[in-house]
Amino acid sequence: MTPTHSPRVLRNLSAIGVGLALGILALVPALARSNPQAPWTAAERTMLKSLSLSSLAPLPADHSNKYADDAAALRLGNLLFNDARLSGNGQVSCATCHSSEKGFQDNIPLGKGVGTAGRRTMPIAGTAHSPWQFWDGRADSHWAQALGPLESAVEHGGDRLQYARVLRQHYRAEYEAIFGAFPNLQGLPERAGPVADSARAAAWARITPARRDSISRVYANMGKAIAAFERQITFTPTRFDRYVDAELAGRAPTPGDNFSDDERAGLRLFIGKANCVNCHNGALLTDNHFHNTGVPQSQDGARADSGRATGVRAVMASEFNCLSHYSDAKPSDCGELRFAVTDGEELVRAYKTPSLRNAVTRAPFMHAGQFASIERVLLHYDRAPSAPAGHSELKRLGLSGTEVRQLAAFLKTLVSSVAYPAPVTSYTP
Ligand code: HEC
Ligand code: HEC
Repeated sequence: MTPTHSPRVLRNLSAIGVGLALGILALVPALARSNPQAPWTAAERTMLKSLSLSSLAPLPADHSNKYADDAAALRLGNLLFNDARLSGNGQVSCATCHSSEKGFQDNIPLGKGVGTAGRRTMPIAGTAHSPWQFWDGRADSHWAQALGPLESAVEHGGDRLQYARVLRQHYRAEYEAIFGAFPNLQGLPERAGPVADSARAAAWARITPARRDSISRVYANMGKAIAAFERQITFTPTRFDRYVDAELAGRAPTPGDNFSDDERAGLRLFIGKANCVNCHNGALLTDNHFHNTGVPQSQDGARADSGRATGVRAVMASEFNCLSHYSDAKPSDCGELRFAVTDGEELVRAYKTPSLRNAVTRAPFMHAGQFASIERVLLHYDRAPSAPAGHSELKRLGLSGTEVRQLAAFLKTLVSSVAYPAPVTSYTP
């Protein structure tokens, strides 16, 4: 899946080195497996280090959003994220589906806003590290991502002119302190935007291109403020991180952080026989890429979903991508987009690898909540069924019942609270 000339290749070279070392390791695991308390080998220690939250790279710059690290934009974004006036029925905010109390997701198979979404709500923590947003990567930044649900008929159900009016009425001073003068909306219809609703779409088409552009600019800026907030939603260290950091420093983990035999065995399977680290690697336990893992169609069966195959076409055509008029990036900053793989059988039903941090708290699992329990997920990996379309990358694992239990025990060590900026009560630009 990695494009041959992507900058990601360089970042992945060390992972390949670790992979080779583990390949050699895989030849002599029997001894280690028979004794769960056997010390970690040098190759295993290198792998463990790469998975610890202490190895997380600094937050990457988002050149397409010059307000990404602006404190006033973050405060405005925090307010907008929680503001249900930004919806067709006045009842849906980002927080409706991305609840801070549930790690910024909702624990239901398909997100519910004004209507029902076609996929499961994704948790937001750590995704500023990802070049792609959504299960199919159809947005290439947080700000462009935010503009999707706002105009989706089943999520927020509103339109960009309606939202520009909400901003002008309730947040004008805050907006202007960050982005400059608010455009004049006089003489424009109440509601208009390039949305599914035909009356509002027709109203949008009747507005002059110059005025449409100024409204879309406000819309993009809304996304940029929301993105400044989302960037700060992060994972905190788990028992796994504390255990690994102690092991690597050669000190005994504090008693509560020490791993049981099952947890150690599960971790050894995760980085060894079960090959989970092929995709769930790095400090966020995701490669941020797209894979067909043979997950069945959504249970509602209503909707054929081809994953990255459609997502990549959408991001290329997006009015708000890194190369767009509303982006603050130079074309040379847009390597991920310019060198993305745009076709091929491997994109069919390929979905973004989710982080496994807090995964066990996020049932039901997969892009449409297809599996109700972690045991069911692990059974899927063990059996590696063929995909409903395209080809699954998985191979049968031949896990015993004990090994499934050990892997589940390990995944439960990856749970911690999610940190996020405190709710804004009074606004001080
Ligand atoms: C109706 C529920 C719902 C609402 C409201 C909603 N989302 Fe989502 N969110 C989802 C679903 C479902 C997905 C996955 C959609 C897909 O892949 O097609 C998602 C995906 C995302 C992602 C991608 C994360 C990743 O790992 O790629 C981000 C970020 C996000 N939403 C932020 C927001 C923001 C910001 C808002 C408000 C502007 C918002 N969402 C409103 C349900 C919702
Ligand atoms: C070939 C890449 C690949 C491998 C190998 C892999 N995964 Fe995944 N994993 C994914 C992708 C992609 C998804 C999302 C698939 C979807 O929703 O259709 C996923 C989803 C998951 C989920 C659900 C998370 C959620 O939020 O819904 C869990 C749990 C999980 N994987 C654990 C594992 C474990 C444990 C292993 C090893 C036994 C493993 N994975 C091996 C790519 C992989």
